[in-house]
Amino acid sequence: MKTQYYTATSLDGFIATEEDSLEWLFPLGDLRDSGYPEFIGEVGALGMGSATYEWMLRHAKTVAAETGSSWPYAQPAWVFTRRALPPIEGADIRFVKGDVRDVHAQMRAAAGAKNIWIVGGGDLAGQFYDANLLDEIIVQIGSATLGKGKPLFPRRVYHPKLRLVSVRQIGSGMAELRYEVCKG
Ligand SMILES: NC(=O)c1ccc[n+]([C@@H]2O[C@H](COP(=O)([O-])OP(=O)(O)OC[C@H]3O[C@@H](n4cnc5c(N)ncnc54)[C@H](OP(=O)(O)O)[C@@H]3O)[C@@H](O)[C@H]2O)c1
Repeated sequence: MKTQYYTATSLDGFIATEEDSLEWLFPLGDLRDSGYPEFIGEVGALGMGSATYEWMLRHAKTVAAETGSSWPYAQPAWVFTRRALPPIEGADIRFVKGDVRDVHAQMRAAAGAKNIWIVGGGDLAGQFYDANLLDEIIVQIGSATLGKGKPLFPRRVYHPKLRLVSVRQIGSGMAELRYEVCKG
């Protein structure tokens, strides 16, 4: 069982624009051509911050048109927020706040032998890293730059703590890099 931060990023290290737009991402390639189908099959629980969840709320119709459901995840999800956010009908979601270690224990129990996916944003993944709970960072680096936006991972981590274990080209729009976070 691993805790994985799996996300797409611009070449200059942003996962969304400042206005939380992902429009730059969609022309870069098809998720089905990436490692996503294999990845999601091994996920037993997922966690995300409120901005990521609110993107899902705002784009519920588009997500439903593309995936058949406004909430495309079968796994239980933990949404981090200090506010009261509306639920999505039919979605298995718990709203939580505070220390990620307590929530990680709940996610781990639910995931069983499967992995935990930290969907984003970058600081939430950083909170799991700070607690020594992050095992892997898997990034699809898009052939696009944003100049500014929501950061991929606002932490300072040097090699060899971050160890590159694989590289895969996905067409002309993306490269997938998989990093192991060395513990201790
Ligand atoms: N490129 C990609 O593949 C990809 C992947 C994932 C996300 N995204 C996008 O990237 C953007 C990420 O936004 P973001 O960087 O602002 O991050 P985010 O993690 O989605 O949201 C951050 C917010 O989550 C809440 N939060 C975080 N940690 C918490 C904790 N421990 N306890 C309670 N609440 C906590 C706080 O808001 P409140 O307490 O005020 O609610 C915080 O301001 C979104 O637009 C998302 O759609 C892109």
